[in-house]
Amino acid sequence: MYNLLKGKKGIIFGALNESSIAWRVAERAYEEGAIFTLTNTPVSIRFGTINDLAKKCKTEVIPADATNLSDLENLFTKSMDILGGKVDFVLHSIGMSLNVRKGRVYDNLDYDYFKKTLDISALSFHKVLQVAKKLDAINDWGSVVALSYIAAQRTLYGYNDMADAKSVLESIARSFGYIYGREKKIRVNTISQSPTLTTAGSGVKGMENLMDFTERMSPLGNASADECADYCITLFSDLTKKVTMQNLFHDGGFSNMGMSYKAMSQYNKSLE
Ligand SMILES: NC(=O)c1ccc[n+]([C@@H]2O[C@H](COP(=O)([O-])OP(=O)(O)OC[C@H]3O[C@@H](n4cnc5c(N)ncnc54)[C@H](O)[C@@H]3O)[C@@H](O)[C@H]2O)c1
Repeated sequence: MYNLLKGKKGIIFGALNESSIAWRVAERAYEEGAIFTLTNTPVSIRFGTINDLAKKCKTEVIPADATNLSDLENLFTKSMDILGGKVDFVLHSIGMSLNVRKGRVYDNLDYDYFKKTLDISALSFHKVLQVAKKLDAINDWGSVVALSYIAAQRTLYGYNDMADAKSVLESIARSFGYIYGREKKIRVNTISQSPTLTTAGSGVKGMENLMDFTERMSPLGNASADECADYCITLFSDLTKKVTMQNLFHDGGFSNMGMSYKAMSQYNKSLE
């Protein structure tokens, strides 16, 4: 390990169980010398295994619904108490769509569910940033990262209203990144991660086929949750101090592919 986060404090949202990307980030942050608090909704804390992660990383879990401003205020205040000062990094690893869960397709959305998708998966990022800024809870040159997906830019079958949420999420990183950067030198970025088998990931229609497709189309193959965690660590570290307002693709090259040799050969075979 490289001690990349030695002396740094943070808050990690979204570890539900061992497959969660946030879980892997917490493990890596711990290895790199950071101290941090963990958070999730009360229901996810009850049904998931985040308390085991907390034990492993010698830390505490503070319940918070990321759509609720007073929960977020409590989370930042308590985290600063526990950690002994302002934080240096925040990971937003949160996503949920009731339309996806209940099988409502994109041309037959339930609008109450749609609002919830946007609130949980996108506006919560703004809420986290706004609460942190009002409480002056992040040190200068701190780093805030949220996890996104390429469906923000391109239509991928089955991603449904989460695509709209991810577009808003990435836009918030730019808009808030400008203000937070100008005033506090705090960077705000999103990482656009390969499809990954997690609880949220498995909810996407045709996930296994999609993963197979992106694996074959990407010159480097899909990026795993552990590899995503490594990338997050670099963004929390002082090695990326001038990276802000970006959507950073972490997908083995998938986002810049058009047609691959393998796909072309397969296409030719099928035509025959
Ligand atoms: N798995 C993938 O294929 C993939 C690909 C790209 C991006 N992402 C993104 O990565 C992030 C993490 O997802 P994951 O794949 O690790 O799945 P996951 O199911 O392990 O994590 C999603 C988390 O969101 C939390 N959450 C839901 N509602 C919340 C709320 N109101 N307040 C606070 N937390 C809430 C859940 O409790 C859960 O811990 C999400 O933003 C997801 O969209 C996932």
